[in-house]
Amino acid sequence: MDTFFANLKVWSKRKHRLLGKYLPPFSAKVGSWAKLIYCIDGFAGPAKYEDGSAGSPLMMAQLADKAASWRRPVSLRLFNVEDNPEHYKSLKHVTQPWETNGVVINRQGQFGELVPTILSIVSDNPALFFIDPYGPTYVLFSHLLPILRRQQRATELIINFDADGLRRIADTMHARTVTERAVKASKTNIENVTEIIGSDKWQEPFKEGNLPTQERERMLLRIYMENIEKYDYTVTAYAIRKTVKDSPKYFLVYCTRHPDGIVLMSNFIREEEDNLLEESTTDAHQPKLSDEFNVLGQEIIWRRRELSDLLLEFLKQHTLTTRRSIRKYFSFERFGDFSDKDYNAVVKDFISANKLLPRHGKKQINDDEPLTFVG
Ligand SMILES: C[S@@+](CC[C@H](N)C(=O)[O-])C[C@H]1O[C@@H](n2cnc3c(N)ncnc32)[C@H](O)[C@@H]1O
Repeated sequence: MDTFFANLKVWSKRKHRLLGKYLPPFSAKVGSWAKLIYCIDGFAGPAKYEDGSAGSPLMMAQLADKAASWRRPVSLRLFNVEDNPEHYKSLKHVTQPWETNGVVINRQGQFGELVPTILSIVSDNPALFFIDPYGPTYVLFSHLLPILRRQQRATELIINFDADGLRRIADTMHARTVTERAVKASKTNIENVTEIIGSDKWQEPFKEGNLPTQERERMLLRIYMENIEKYDYTVTAYAIRKTVKDSPKYFLVYCTRHPDGIVLMSNFIREEEDNLLEESTTDAHQPKLSDEFNVLGQEIIWRRRELSDLLLEFLKQHTLTTRRSIRKYFSFERFGDFSDKDYNAVVKDFISANKLLPRHGKKQINDDEPLTFVG
């Protein structure tokens, strides 16, 4: 087994945490109207790391058990694809109980080639595709097209997009090539980048060669996201990194056709960023001195002040609203910037200051209580 799976890296934990946070509310929401939901793990891995921690297929299988025992049970079906024989063997072994009871389907092979098979099994059921290769070259845009074109609006994708790896390949267009072989290799690389992100819009700005590394990476990501958006998706990206100071290991590109997905994900990403900030500033061996040194606490105070100002502007335009509408509006406008707790706290302050009046006249509100802005 290769070193990637020897233990769960910090950034893989972040990826799993986001997936683990998102899947239950997604399943509960979609499960309120759908009989069956498919989760497709297109690059499933061995399901268990050598240090015993769960890989994504095991996480999802455990969630399927939980969802089946909810008060309003939800049926999840998991479709795992893995190409590497050794990883596949482990995947089969670890998920065997779920394969036996029909919750899990495992297939060995390449994701790109198996997309038609997956789609025929998934049929018109809602589906979430988790596409998590290592390296940028395994998922071509043409593999995604039949997924993006699904009629079923409850189709979502979480894609691990290796912008750094792809930028390195794209940069080879500047390699000083002399041999015929090297010229051919550079041409192939250029074609590959285009096939992966789904258009050649990147080539001109890359040719000019004056963009800094990070901007070249962001540009590849942006074009990729725009190409997905053409299929009626809202697309966001979250940089997965080891600490706040590190450059991204990769981006998790999240694609949805439902506003609720954006609201959920925006909150989880804010929570994840807060974790990152806390990890970078807490010294386990040092007791906290005072609030002044509590970087996360300060950050929360600052951003709630900002949200207060933004909310005031919003309310001038929307004098009758609800907390749900407020959260939805800002989850789109300022994706990943504020958490549910921030919205609750700021709205509560407005109510306490009698700037927002709940229709029922009490201070405690739920998300759908009509609120009137009285300035
Ligand atoms: C990053 S790992 C997956 C980790 C897993 N999703 C998790 O979170 O626990 C990528 C996996 O994809 C497999 N793989 C590589 N190319 C593939 C392909 N074309 N189709 C399917 N699986 C592939 C690798 O063998 C590896 O196990």
